[in-house]
Amino acid sequence: MRSRRSVLAVPGSNPKFLQKAQTLPADEVFLDLEDSVAPLAKEEARANIVTALREGDWSGKTRVVRVNDLTTQWTYRDVIEIVEGAGEFLDCLMLPKVQDSTEIVWLDTLLTQIEKTMGYDVGRIGIEAQIENARGLVNADAIAGSSKRLETLVFGPADFMASINMRTLVVGEQPPGYEEGDAYHYILMRLLMAARMHDLQVIDGPYLQIKDIEGYRRVAMRSAALGFDGKWVLHPSQIEAANEVFSPSQEDYDHAELILEAYDHYTSVEKRGAVMLGDEMIDEASRKMALVVAAKGRAAGLARTKRFTP
Ligand code: GLV
Ligand code: MG
Repeated sequence: MRSRRSVLAVPGSNPKFLQKAQTLPADEVFLDLEDSVAPLAKEEARANIVTALREGDWSGKTRVVRVNDLTTQWTYRDVIEIVEGAGEFLDCLMLPKVQDSTEIVWLDTLLTQIEKTMGYDVGRIGIEAQIENARGLVNADAIAGSSKRLETLVFGPADFMASINMRTLVVGEQPPGYEEGDAYHYILMRLLMAARMHDLQVIDGPYLQIKDIEGYRRVAMRSAALGFDGKWVLHPSQIEAANEVFSPSQEDYDHAELILEAYDHYTSVEKRGAVMLGDEMIDEASRKMALVVAAKGRAAGLARTKRFTP
């Protein structure tokens, strides 16, 4: 699984940003042809992106291009020009505003044709599906299961809030008047279930108040706590917060590694299934939970500071 704690949006129409993004510590960059690019700049943006992918140094980052959605006239040329021009330098395409599984099947088929024509490995380029309206959310289970290329579902809060008429203009914040609970809980959980049913990652979308890092952190914590793998960043100042919020704490990481080590010792050396680690009872389910936290900690580059002694 690729690390996607921070997913940096980069407008394809801006060569300066395409250059700068290469130097930033985001886990993923997506070079955008959709809503951050004006209609009259779309064609030029395709060429900029092909050049940036071919000639840039993106080492250590997952490289993604967001094409335009299937209700526009641009999608097919976006896919053909980007993948023919720079398919070897690309990890995934992101399809926005996905409404049902046939859209993913379309993209999968087109990718296969281009890969065959170009002599690329068939099936190597993955797909990220952005869920940004009511229809997409209701169809999320089928979308998540529609192609082996799918790597992640991505929440698009701005378009989504417009789609359901949520009564606020501040993306990601609670709508005034809804004082009980979290207005996003159902949406986030629905996406999480659909994604995990098919072993996909699930990524939270943008927070547009880019000066408000505390606000970013608060909103990011909400999806991180539920189990999301990462969140978009629109500005370099949000990257550090995302990488931190979507990595386990040192304490949780140490604890997870201890559970794995202790459980392994007691089940294999002492042949016992439910055992005590300090004051805590651990069993096979604890091991599964610990595996998740340990894997995220290792991917984030954390090092152990505690060892198990029987
Ligand atoms: C992102 O595309 C969003 O609509 O929030
Ligand atoms: Mg959107």
